[in-house]
Amino acid sequence: MIRVLFVCLGNICRSPMAEAVLRKQLERQGFSHKVEVDSAGTGDWHVGNNPHPGTLKILEENDIPADGLKGRQLHRDDFDEFDYIVGMDQTNIADIRSMLGQPDHPKILRFLDLTDHLKDVPDPYFTGDFEETYELVNDGCEALLAKIREDHGI
Ligand code: 4NP
Repeated sequence: MIRVLFVCLGNICRSPMAEAVLRKQLERQGFSHKVEVDSAGTGDWHVGNNPHPGTLKILEENDIPADGLKGRQLHRDDFDEFDYIVGMDQTNIADIRSMLGQPDHPKILRFLDLTDHLKDVPDPYFTGDFEETYELVNDGCEALLAKIREDHGI
């Protein structure tokens, strides 16, 4: 099994959105049995919480199930348990590296470095623009899935 972990700050807006979007793309392309997806926050404020209402709304509008999305914090074991650890912005990347004790490892990736877009996914908790974030997350997931398929020859 190939394992992907999306990471943002609170684990209620961007990373659970990416988790649900990638899961749906995996299902569409027939790879659900090969790739598992999870998400976590670098902060602990929303442990056990549901995603933000704005994330739930945009997922619903796009017919993407939000099942099983519950806030949790990144922990040290995640480094060994996941093959791709994907941060939403540069601050996430710095925090992931520090929390996992891995200053520079290729499995820790900034999401939009895989695309032609501006490089950080804007945080809709502060911008209020869940549509903009959704479009970027959708493109990022397509690019990540293409990379996973290439890396693993699937
Ligand atoms: P996220 O957004 O990192 O995309 O989940 C945030 C959610 C909550 C907070 C910050 C960012 N917060 O400070 O509670």
